[in-house]
Amino acid sequence: MSFPETRLRRLRRTETLRRMVRETTVSRDDLILPLFLVEGSGVREPVTSMPGVQRFSVDVAVTEAKRVVAAGVPAVILFGIPDAKDARGSGADAASGIVQRGVEALKSAEPDLCVITDVCLCEYTDHGHCGIVDAGEVTNDASVERLAATALSHARAGADIVAPSDMMDGRVAAIRGGLDGAGFGDVAILAYAAKFASAFYGPFRDAAESAPAFGDRRSYQMDPPNRREAMREMRADLEEGADVLMVKPALPYLDLLADARREFDVPLAAYHVSGEYAMIKAAAERGWIDGDRAMDESLVAIKRAGADWILTYAALEVAARLAP
Ligand code: PBG
Repeated sequence: MSFPETRLRRLRRTETLRRMVRETTVSRDDLILPLFLVEGSGVREPVTSMPGVQRFSVDVAVTEAKRVVAAGVPAVILFGIPDAKDARGSGADAASGIVQRGVEALKSAEPDLCVITDVCLCEYTDHGHCGIVDAGEVTNDASVERLAATALSHARAGADIVAPSDMMDGRVAAIRGGLDGAGFGDVAILAYAAKFASAFYGPFRDAAESAPAFGDRRSYQMDPPNRREAMREMRADLEEGADVLMVKPALPYLDLLADARREFDVPLAAYHVSGEYAMIKAAAERGWIDGDRAMDESLVAIKRAGADWILTYAALEVAARLAP
């Protein structure tokens, strides 16, 4: 049957019909809100390059966590911005570090909130790289040791899920081994598996004060043109024990998300990153696009491509727009 008997517009005629044939919907259950934690108390600092996003001290983050739970959003991912940085990123695995204190406070105030921690060194190192630097190079194996210690310290603080974002080789296996060896076999790993050296992280690096002081991240994060290599990265992380695989950024890499959906039977996450968020907000501020619709359309596209979880700075505003 073809035109004129077939008319695809028939089922697009009314909003009710469109609702009935809608193939993909974003739910609150899909959303994860990133939170930036800073030292001090009573702190709420707007991030200029990310309208609507603020950095919170731990006490204010607890208030924010209550809003997250009230909005029906199940999870947050924590990023810490310490006062002091050094070459080995000592703050990353300190028992009383900013993220560790944040996890404890959030879990004790909101036990049902899923607390995920970003595991990386870049916010804690004075050079801003995601690993240990030796003779101008970001070393792999020494970095992995620090990352495993960091993940373990987050687990000790009560994290439900640890999420390594550094892109060192072998870090998932080292983290899994470290957690299991210390009795944290129940803590899950969300691996930033296919993470690209992307221009879309710009606003995040303002928010997290984590821009590299020299060079860039291209010797560890992936080269944007590579699809086969992304599949190898994801397969490797799965074999090393990742529970959930992430593709990052989201919209420019939907092909990889769709490929991963076909290839792997694990939950998939996508990070709608700072630059993707900021572009929508900036264009909306100028009146060039409808920001709410552009945000919703972006998230539904990410879901349609295969993501189960979407990390987005818009989690609360999107949750508020969704029907209960
Ligand atoms: C830390 C990290 C980054 C992001 C998440 N974890 C920055 C980077 O790799 O430079 C980016 C998130 C965003 O842009 O929203 N390694």
